[in-house]
Amino acid sequence: MTGSNDTVTIAPQVSGEERLQTESRARGVARILVSERRIQDEIAAMAAELDAEYGDDQPLMVGVLTGAVAFMADLMKAMTIPLQIDFMAISSYGAATKSSGVVRILKDLNEEIEGRRLIVVEDIVDSGLTLQYLLEMLKARQPKDIRVVALLKKDKPDAFDVQVDRVGFHIPDEFVIGYGLDYAGQYRNLPYVAVLDPSVYTS
Ligand code: IMP
Repeated sequence: MTGSNDTVTIAPQVSGEERLQTESRARGVARILVSERRIQDEIAAMAAELDAEYGDDQPLMVGVLTGAVAFMADLMKAMTIPLQIDFMAISSYGAATKSSGVVRILKDLNEEIEGRRLIVVEDIVDSGLTLQYLLEMLKARQPKDIRVVALLKKDKPDAFDVQVDRVGFHIPDEFVIGYGLDYAGQYRNLPYVAVLDPSVYTS
């Protein structure tokens, strides 16, 4: 399985523009970066690849809370093979828009993972610090193998060189919200990925 080179261009669909004007949950959205339709099409492709890769191996999908919830839910429903899910929570940015460089486990897995095939499901890889830390910790528990799927990856030359096997969309290095991603706990329920209006955090 190879990563997509699908670099996002900024082209809001009409339905998205209408939403920005009418929906209160979209207040503060500067522009739509990845539409709902594109997200769902990409997830269908990812799910088919994962189905083919794992067959009857019953992989354990490990979702990284809280941002991966929307992606994980749609991805697992698009998959047709038997699988299990579990979640980890790792500290993120709080209410800031830059990584603090500090990583903490807030919730560990419920399942034992030794000898199992893991699919780590990430919302976004930014600096790669969180993922690097998570993978080190998971590998120490000796799973059979680990595959990392991320919906988004920021184009960031100085990011950690961390394992990401499949990326949905490569995006510019901007702070994004929606489809699970938040700013100060808000915007996770947008069905698309958008750029936050800087006035929201500079005012
Ligand atoms: P990293 O450790 O810098 O790769 O950041 C990983 C985590 O930070 C992600 O799983 C997100 O929860 C959060 N994050 C990174 N960039 C963004 C963003 O643009 N919007 C919202 N959350 C983000």
